[in-house]
Amino acid sequence: MAKNTSENGKKLAILTSGGDSSGMNACIRTAVRSAMNKGYEVYGVRHGYVGLMNDDIFQMQYSSVSNCVHTGGTILRTGRTDEFKKISVQKEAAKNLTKRGVNNLIVIGGDGSFRGIEDLHQNTPLNVIGVPGTIDNDMGYTDYTIGFDTACNTVLDAMLKLRDTITSHDRIMILEVMGRHCGDIALKTAVAGGAEYVIVPEAPADVDAIAASVKKGFDKGKTSTIIVLAEGRNDLKDELREKVKQATGRTVNHVALSYIQRGGTPSMFDRVLASRMASRAVELIECGQSGRVVGVRGSDIIDMNVIEALACEKKFDDRLYALATSISK
Ligand code: ADP
Ligand code: F6P
Repeated sequence: MAKNTSENGKKLAILTSGGDSSGMNACIRTAVRSAMNKGYEVYGVRHGYVGLMNDDIFQMQYSSVSNCVHTGGTILRTGRTDEFKKISVQKEAAKNLTKRGVNNLIVIGGDGSFRGIEDLHQNTPLNVIGVPGTIDNDMGYTDYTIGFDTACNTVLDAMLKLRDTITSHDRIMILEVMGRHCGDIALKTAVAGGAEYVIVPEAPADVDAIAASVKKGFDKGKTSTIIVLAEGRNDLKDELREKVKQATGRTVNHVALSYIQRGGTPSMFDRVLASRMASRAVELIECGQSGRVVGVRGSDIIDMNVIEALACEKKFDDRLYALATSISK
């Protein structure tokens, strides 16, 4: 929805919020340069909403984003704070931009950050546009979030290395991956990496059946087994480890890749996605839009109302899950 279009100055701020993800810098770079190409003065807000509250804001130049397209993390840093959920705090924070004549803000982050966008849109004079940046790929309105592809490639690289060592020892590996309540990282990497089993929050897991099946696999001559365990079901870790060990009499190792998945040079996919999304975000600002978020569906960059976007249910890929569980035993 358009807001105060006529008053729009050519000033724009950018922040990154919540969990960092690889490709955020490519997004910042395109946003800064596309906006400057359109005649905007651009400001960076450090540490997400924390910096907005604390007036940690600086003017950016074309060169501020030199040499960052290939880097992980976020050059603007990121932050989390529950204080920002208060309307009074949001109103005060917005003043740190409006006092500089800045009425436009691009927020790169996950669903928590998007709730902040809606609040800023409703409660302050700012025009706010969101771009999805999180490794979790847990947002229903978009096929991909920035950083998911890179995180998956990191998992695949680790899986390859783990396969070497567990094959040498005839072992079983429980590989725990991130994703919060979403099983996308687990499912996609299990399929792409040829893992034997995958456990995700979206589908029931039968630990006894998995243990029996792992034993059967070794009886048939398998030399290694990888079970990908999504973070959202890590409550099963100990039971799984114990039961598989009992059933097979073999060593069962557990590795949680943890924060390694969040860093590293972004994949080509994430860099291009980030750049295309940033470009659309700047176009929306240019049109005086607010309370909208950018996404991708198929090969198309889309945008939609942030409330509608947050209400979109994240669909689980049942067919891919069925495929994953049918081809690797
Ligand atoms: P992500 O954006 O990666 O999901 P978080 O859920 O931690 O990460 O959210 C990032 C930040 O967004 C929070 O620390 C908080 O400052 C802000 N935020 C989260 N939920 C809300 C909300 N309901 N209203 C306003 N701001 C919010
Ligand atoms: O949302 C990204 C993510 O890395 C999740 O996969 C994970 O559950 C969470 O952030 C970890 O957050 P923190 O940085 O607070 O430990």
